[in-house]
Amino acid sequence: MHFTAALFVNTACIMCIIISTLQGRVEPTAVIARDVNETEMFYYEIRPELFNWTNGADSRFVFTPSLQNYPDLLYWIYYKFDGKNRHGYLYGTPPADSSDRKILLDINGLNKKTYQIETQVIQLNILEKSEYATNEVRFKINNLNVEDMFHEERIPYLLDIFRQNLWLGSKENLYVTFLASASDLGQRLPLDPNDTEGVIVNLGSSSNFSTMLYDLEKEISPLQKMNKCPKDFKRTSVERYFRANGFNLDWCSFKLVELPIIDQNKTINVQDKLSSTKHAEENVWELMESLQYTQSMHTNASKLIITLLIFVIFVILITFSIGVFRWHKKVIFLKKLNKI
Ligand SMILES: *[C@@H]1O[C@H](CO)[C@@H](O)[C@H](O)[C@H]1NC(C)=O
Ligand SMILES: *[C@@H]1O[C@H](CO)[C@@H](O)[C@H](O)[C@H]1NC(C)=O
Ligand SMILES: *[C@@H]1O[C@H](CO)[C@@H](O)[C@H](O)[C@H]1NC(C)=O
Ligand SMILES: *[C@@H]1O[C@H](CO)[C@@H](O)[C@H](O)[C@H]1NC(C)=O
Ligand SMILES: *[C@@H]1O[C@H](CO)[C@@H](O)[C@H](O)[C@H]1NC(C)=O
Repeated sequence: MHFTAALFVNTACIMCIIISTLQGRVEPTAVIARDVNETEMFYYEIRPELFNWTNGADSRFVFTPSLQNYPDLLYWIYYKFDGKNRHGYLYGTPPADSSDRKILLDINGLNKKTYQIETQVIQLNILEKSEYATNEVRFKINNLNVEDMFHEERIPYLLDIFRQNLWLGSKENLYVTFLASASDLGQRLPLDPNDTEGVIVNLGSSSNFSTMLYDLEKEISPLQKMNKCPKDFKRTSVERYFRANGFNLDWCSFKLVELPIIDQNKTINVQDKLSSTKHAEENVWELMESLQYTQSMHTNASKLIITLLIFVIFVILITFSIGVFRWHKKVIFLKKLNKI
């Protein structure tokens, strides 16, 4: 019978598709693991070589990172693609209260020349930090984009300016606590796309601020009273350290901030919490939209959706088969009628 044959072929096809999809999902891929410290900015460079692709002048790639089984990244992980070297950069600061200490990220790579699609899994292990920063220097760098910070040892150079010249006490424990593009934090994009967007940097340490930093704060205090930052205010007494390394600082944004103390129980005491919300309100670049997630819930949800989808396809195909079968019968019947 045509009908049974068609139904059988259909079912077999669906089964094949289901099995191959499930196998594709289950198949283990090599996971790249990275240790990151809580409250400390990390970055991960996604190179085409990660997918065994060569990066030629005419290559075009698209990388799409996401939390495994989830369409998006976590709220504290950012992604930037650098069109100049065709590398992608994941960066962000793991929060101090991370309950999930193992984060799995899927990086989907699309090679636009060959239309090849590959996935690489990155595992971030969030390590506990023995000593949190208690003091922070916050500022904006005008002449760079966030991805530029990951090139040419820029971050070590920037840290060294403080460790060796402005904040000697922080030599042992200065680290980047936050890094973001100024436009990601609400600043208007530059009108000329060739202009840099600017980078917001926070450097933290458990050491007390130096007198040199307090003096600098005093020196630039007239700027805090102005409505608009004068573009030509560039001659601070420490300008040379930054200029020598190619950093052009926005002195209006330069701030010394005492951080709320986080104890080993990861609780912030109430008074400190108030002052930290106040800082947040002052922050013009504030944006942070928190993204709730539970990984297990998503796995279950996606399984349910896949099952439903398979069921729906199945029903559609059966209905279609029945339709074809009836039509076929009708045609035969009409042919017989014609013959009569
Ligand atoms: C994490 O912090 C420790 C010191 O607390 C440091 O030695 C280590 O290099 C840091 N790891 C990363 C990935 O920054
Ligand atoms: C890239 O090649 C290496 C060695 O040839 C192999 O071990 C690795 O799995 C490959 N990676 C991908 C994403 O194909
Ligand atoms: C941006 O720079 C490129 C070359 O570096 C130039 O061709 C282009 O005209 C510039 N765009 C604008 C809007 O200035
Ligand atoms: C840091 O400052 C606090 C009070 O401001 C002081 O009690 C403490 O001794 C200072 N620590 C160091 C290492 O100077
Ligand atoms: C941490 O929590 C334990 C019990 O939950 C408490 O006994 C201890 O005092 C806390 N430590 C601090 C520094 O708050």
